[in-house]
Amino acid sequence: MINIILFGPPGSGKGTQASKIVEKYNLLHISTGDLFRYEMGNNTPLGLKAKEYIKKGELVPDEVTIGMLTNKVVANQDVAGYIFDGFPRNINQSESLDRILAEMNTQVSGLIALAVDDEEIVSRILNRGKTSGRSDDNDESIIRNRIEVYKQETRPVFDYYAKENKSHELQGVGSLEEVFERICNQIDQL
Ligand code: C5P
Ligand code: MG
Repeated sequence: MINIILFGPPGSGKGTQASKIVEKYNLLHISTGDLFRYEMGNNTPLGLKAKEYIKKGELVPDEVTIGMLTNKVVANQDVAGYIFDGFPRNINQSESLDRILAEMNTQVSGLIALAVDDEEIVSRILNRGKTSGRSDDNDESIIRNRIEVYKQETRPVFDYYAKENKSHELQGVGSLEEVFERICNQIDQL
């Protein structure tokens, strides 16, 4: 299996690029953000719980997120691999992911981070907010909080996988096609 963590700050293009990667490599795209938005859209208990945190730009508690991710993986084991988008968001989630994959006799193949600077992120997300219908995309202070949470809690995940020489960082600015090509070059070297 080939299991990729597509990494980077909010608005760095993970979702957009993941859709292109799954087409080319035939992987299953698992976006925890999309899973939460689906649950919120259906007003499920999980969705209502997640909403309390998402509307503030904070992380949903690990037990909720890890449980949801585990269910998704366990229900879809007959695949060539996974592309994780928006997960893991902290070290504890990374350790859980490693355990889940180890139980399936596989592992993280590599983490690919998209580098985009803060001001570019804010303007991209505000722009996305015009059409995304996401309340967390429309308020600059929430966006800045999401960036802060990324730096404090999520960025250490890069260092965690770097210890196993699995972390790779690419320039996330450029055309969609340019960024995609950089990612494919990296995947082909994993
Ligand atoms: O990944 P995405 O940016 O779509 O996630 C949207 C929001 O969902 C995050 O700002 C966060 O509140 C929540 N989230 C989370 N834990 C994850 C993924 C998303 O708390 N692993
Ligand atoms: Mg996304």
